[in-house]
Amino acid sequence: MTTPVKIAITGAAGQIGYSLLFRIASGALFGPDVPVQLRLLEIPASMQALEGVAMELDDCAFPLLDSVELGDNAEHIFNGANLALLVGARPRSKGMERKDLLDANGAIFTEQGKALNKVAAEDVRIGVTGNPANTNAMIAMNNAPDIPAERFSALTRLDHNRALAQLARKTQSRVDEITNMTIWGNHSATQYPDIYHAKINGHSAAELVEQHWIEDDFIPTVAQRGSAIIEARGASSAASAASATIDAARDWLHGTPEGDWVSMAVVSDGSYGIPEGLMYSFPVTTQDGNWQIVHDLEINDFSRAKMDASATELSEERDTVTELGLA
Ligand code: NAD
Ligand code: LMR
Repeated sequence: MTTPVKIAITGAAGQIGYSLLFRIASGALFGPDVPVQLRLLEIPASMQALEGVAMELDDCAFPLLDSVELGDNAEHIFNGANLALLVGARPRSKGMERKDLLDANGAIFTEQGKALNKVAAEDVRIGVTGNPANTNAMIAMNNAPDIPAERFSALTRLDHNRALAQLARKTQSRVDEITNMTIWGNHSATQYPDIYHAKINGHSAAELVEQHWIEDDFIPTVAQRGSAIIEARGASSAASAASATIDAARDWLHGTPEGDWVSMAVVSDGSYGIPEGLMYSFPVTTQDGNWQIVHDLEINDFSRAKMDASATELSEERDTVTELGLA
């Protein structure tokens, strides 16, 4: 029998968790032959709700679900994890400034980074979905000195998928006919969805649409999509965020198709002039659980300004958490 994969998920009783857990347990991430062991972390106040979710997992009778462990202690839950999906974070509440959010969540990701450093499996990969995702991932990475920095990534796959959907709709194509989409930067309104390298059935996407659509429609729609969903649903995206979390982890571990790439926020090595150490979304290819930034893409002036603006925002977030003593 195939050895089960240990997957730790934080914020497991939350909205995203309610979709994520069930899809992973049904085989959406590791396929139909690999059993999974779910290790679910919550805060004490949400443990009862988590027990309810675990009862529902039982009731699905998923053949691939080998075991479920629940807890509110990060070191216990992360023990031996091959994959850690850090979803749990404190949402922004009324009157809360961005700095307050960084402070509250920074403390969570400091503790979780330290716990992963102590007890995760040798081969662990860590994907951060909880916001502010890029900076949370940087904090966790900086608090886990024994885990290679390349093992941390923040989620910009939802933005990538949103960009595919918008471009497909505009050009009346199918999402699977589009390749080489890129999200640069932060998972925030400063992100830059870039279609200058994208192709639709091998043809340049940018040549199939008008420049004013890119500037006035496509980019703002993708960058503001999270807010539009909150406005429409009264709650932030959950099923689509869970789906993107799975897409990102699956492609990271199992590889990108020949000739295509995906967007992942990963630690910058200075590529494309982005300051080193920032957790910045780049176009990457992956193989056997490792990623590589796609190099030598031509960057026009329009793209350059947008890429730099998002890097500036991330540098400011880094300054804030440094002042707070978190990273
Ligand atoms: P939610 O409030 O429904 O659930 C979050 C859960 O995290 C709660 O159950 C809470 O108890 C738990 N939690 C809080 N602190 C924790 C800790 N220290 N350890 C373990 N669990 C903890 O929120 P949600 O809708 O599931 O969203 C989760 C996060 O994902 C939010 O930060 C949200 O902004 C973010 N998000 C990111 C993206 C993305 O694309 N990167 C998209 C959507 C949502
Ligand atoms: C999203 O992109 O849907 C979320 O990150 C929005 C949010 O602020 O929770």
